[in-house]
Amino acid sequence: MKKDILQALQTVSPIPLEEHMLERPAHAKLGDFALPCFPFAKVLRKSPVAIAEEIAASINHPLIQKAEAVNGYVNLFMNREVIADTLLQTILQQSTTYGTSNEGNDGVVTIDLSSPNIAKPFSMGHLRSTVIGNSIALLLEKIGYKPVKINYIGDWGTQFGKLLTAYRIWGNEADVRQAPIETLLKLYIRFHKEAETDPSLNDEGRAAFKALEDGDSDALALWNWFKTESLKEFQRIYDLLGVTFDSYNGEAYYNDKMEPVVEELLSKGLLVESDGAMVVELQEGMPPCLIKKSDGATLYATRDLAAAIDRKNNYDFVKSIYVVGNEQSLHFTQVKQVLGKMGHNWSNDIQHVPFGLILQGGKKMSTRKGKIVLLENVLKEAIELAQKNIKEKNPTLANQSEVADAVGVGAILFSDLKQHRKHDIEFNLESMLQVEGETGPYVQYANARAHSILRKVSDVDSFNVNEVNDYEWETIKLLEQFPHAVKRAADELDPSIIAKYAIDLAQAFNSFYGNVQVLTDQANLPYRSALIESVTIVLSESLRLLGMKAPEEM
Ligand code: ARG
Repeated sequence: MKKDILQALQTVSPIPLEEHMLERPAHAKLGDFALPCFPFAKVLRKSPVAIAEEIAASINHPLIQKAEAVNGYVNLFMNREVIADTLLQTILQQSTTYGTSNEGNDGVVTIDLSSPNIAKPFSMGHLRSTVIGNSIALLLEKIGYKPVKINYIGDWGTQFGKLLTAYRIWGNEADVRQAPIETLLKLYIRFHKEAETDPSLNDEGRAAFKALEDGDSDALALWNWFKTESLKEFQRIYDLLGVTFDSYNGEAYYNDKMEPVVEELLSKGLLVESDGAMVVELQEGMPPCLIKKSDGATLYATRDLAAAIDRKNNYDFVKSIYVVGNEQSLHFTQVKQVLGKMGHNWSNDIQHVPFGLILQGGKKMSTRKGKIVLLENVLKEAIELAQKNIKEKNPTLANQSEVADAVGVGAILFSDLKQHRKHDIEFNLESMLQVEGETGPYVQYANARAHSILRKVSDVDSFNVNEVNDYEWETIKLLEQFPHAVKRAADELDPSIIAKYAIDLAQAFNSFYGNVQVLTDQANLPYRSALIESVTIVLSESLRLLGMKAPEEM
C-alpha cells in the first residue's frame, strides 16, 4: 500500500521521494499517510504550505480517496472500501500462503539450535535457543529458504572424563536409571568439590577422557548410556514444545573428523605452539583460537571448526546460523576467523545469532552451583494452570488437555519471543503464566473468539464492502502489513516482530468486535465475516510462525 502511494505521489511531486519520507500519522483523523513538505522548501524556493497544496490538488489515484493540504503536510486518506475488498479477497483465496514468498530461492540455511549438554539439565538458555531457533526456521521457510535444524548436542569434552571418574567412584546404576540428569549432575558437582582438596582427581578425569577419545569400550559404553538417558529426558521437553530436528549430530560426532582439520591447519602453516598448546593466531586484539591442549585433547572450537566444514560439505548452505547466547560471541568470531584464514570464503555466510541471558534475581543462573530451575517443571506448571483455567471458564470444552498444552506452552514461548532476543530477561514464572495483557494466551483467545463468531454465521460465498468504519480499518491496515512483518522478521532473524504484530492484530480485532454489532447487522454480515475469517487466518499463521498452536475453541 505504501509503495503504491509513493508511486502515485512521485508522479506529481517536483522532487524525488524516498519511502522514509512518507509518514504514518498517529491520529487516524490526519489520514493514513502524510507527506511533510518542509524538506523541499529550500530546493524549490517555495513555502511548504504552497508545495503541499500543489501536490494535494494534483494527485489522482484509485487507491486515494482524498488528499488534504494542512500546514505544509499532504494528508492522504485511502479508499478504504477498494482496499478492503481486494485485500480480503486475497487473504481468503491465499489462506495460509498469504505472506509466503520465494525470496530465499530454496537456498539451504543450516540452523544450530537448542544444543543442550548431556548429563546436565536442559537450561532456560537452551529453551531460548530452541524456541528462537525454531521460529527463525519457520520464518525462513515462509520466505522460501530450506531450513535445516541441527541439534548440536554437547556430548564431548573433558567434562565427560570427570563424569566417568565420578560415576566410577561414587555412582550406582539404579540412581542413574531412576533420575538420570539429576544424579549425573550431582556427581559432576561432587567431582568439582572434591577435586578442590584432591587434585589427583583431575588427572584421573583427564585420563578417562583420553580413554574415551581413543575408543576404550568401557568408557564408551558408560558414556553412551549417559547420553541415551539424557536424550530421553530432552525428548520429553521437545515433545511438549512441539519442536523437531533434522539432525542430532553433536560434538561427539566430530571426534574422528577433527584430525583432518588439524592437518589442514598445519599444512597451511596456521598452527603455532603457545605454552605447549596448539593455537591459531587471529587479528590484533583477538585472543588466539585454542585448537589442542598441551595433553593433545581437542577443544570446543576444534569441534565447531570440523562441524562448520562438514555442514558446508553436506548441505552447501547459503547461510549457516548459530542460535547461541551472547556469552559465546567471542567463540564464534574466532571460529569464523579461523575458517577465513583457511581460505574458506563461505565463512562470511556464518552468522552467530545471539540472545540475552535469563537472569534470576538479576544474576545469571548457574548449573555448577546446582541452583537451576528445571524447565520441565516450568512447562508442566504452565499446563496445569491452563487446565485449571479451562475447568473454571469453559468446563464443557472438548479436547481439554490438548488445549491446555497449547495454552500453557504457548504462554511460556510467547513471553520469551515477544522480547527482542538480545535483551536479558528476568525469569519470573508468574509473569510468564499471565493471561491478561500482551501474552500468548491473549492472542490465542482472540483467535478462538473469532472462530466462535464464524461458527455462528453461515459460510460466505461473496461479499460487498459498502463502508469501512474506523475499527474495521485499523484491523484491515494491520492485515495488509502481515507480509511486511514476515519479511522483516525473517530478514532480521527476529521473531519478536511477529509476536508484537500478533498482539496488535489481536487488540485491533478485539476492539472491532467490542464496538461493532457484527451478528445483528445482516447487510454487512458477509463482509464482516470475511474480515473475521481473514483475522483467524493471519492470527493462526502468526502463531504458527512462533511455534505455537492456535486452538479454534478454548
Ligand atoms: N552445548 C553448548 C552449550 O550448552 C551450545 C552449543 C552451541 N552450538 C555450537 N555449534 N557451538 O553451551
